[in-house]
Amino acid sequence: MIQIRGVHKEFAVDGAKVTALSPTDLDVRRGEFVSIIGPSGCGKSTLLRIVAGLETASGGTIAMTEARSPAQRVGFVFQEPVLLPWLTALENVRFPLDTAGVARQEAEDVASRLLRLVGLAGFENALPRTLSGGMRQRVSIARALSYDPLLLLMDEPFGALDLITRDRLNDELLAIWSETRKTVIFVTHSVEEAAYLSDRVIVMSPRPGAIRSIYEVDFPRPRGEATKLDPAFHHLMANLRRDLQ
Ligand SMILES: Nc1ncnc2c1ncn2[C@@H]1O[C@H](COP(=O)(O)OP(=O)(O)OP(=O)(O)O)[C@@H](O)[C@H]1O
Ligand SMILES: [Mg+2]
Repeated sequence: MIQIRGVHKEFAVDGAKVTALSPTDLDVRRGEFVSIIGPSGCGKSTLLRIVAGLETASGGTIAMTEARSPAQRVGFVFQEPVLLPWLTALENVRFPLDTAGVARQEAEDVASRLLRLVGLAGFENALPRTLSGGMRQRVSIARALSYDPLLLLMDEPFGALDLITRDRLNDELLAIWSETRKTVIFVTHSVEEAAYLSDRVIVMSPRPGAIRSIYEVDFPRPRGEATKLDPAFHHLMANLRRDLQ
């Protein structure tokens, strides 16, 4: 569904060239859940932002099989939920639809359905500051799904959350993914999260980052506690940890 060829990025900082991302090739299949893991500063966010059209590449090409405008193609979830503080949860989720000119009632219906999907039924009228970090991140996920993007890009969406909330949101994300069949590219620092969620894990080398190794992950779905107890799961995590060093 998406073909990344030779994409690289250099920044000019005080006249000096900083390489943020070495030439990178990656294919992602439709409906696939791909995680990218790598040390801080290796270019994960840069790659995601280029795919989203939030940043221009210094070179290389990105082709998507289904041409739509960039705004329709990609939903982005950032590490910190970026919600408009003066809008309610429902208004935040429907915001992209309102700005796209979707009819009022339809926007309302879509936003309510998505809030239910992320487990926030009953919080439609809550303001972001009255929600927990995990709840705010769920609103962000619902908003990213609001215009039904082909591709969901998630940049360490659960990195700031405690482990219990993160585990719960991982399971919720898998449920949402199996229901919506989105293609997902998920950036994380957590080997466990990458191994648990993904069809494939991409490991990047330290900066300037390039792809170091790729693992196919074929634990049966739906995944759960049994997956985390599987010796093969621990073997995969050990491999990921080794490659990260
Ligand atoms: N706007 C910018 N101007 C200059 N350098 C930048 C800019 N954005 C990123 N970089 C540099 O590019 C490199 C890659 O940054 P990037 O944010 O993609 O890393 P990352 O893998 O997402 O790291 P982290 O895991 O810490 O989020 C870093 O060395 C960073 O300093
Ligand atoms: Mg980053």
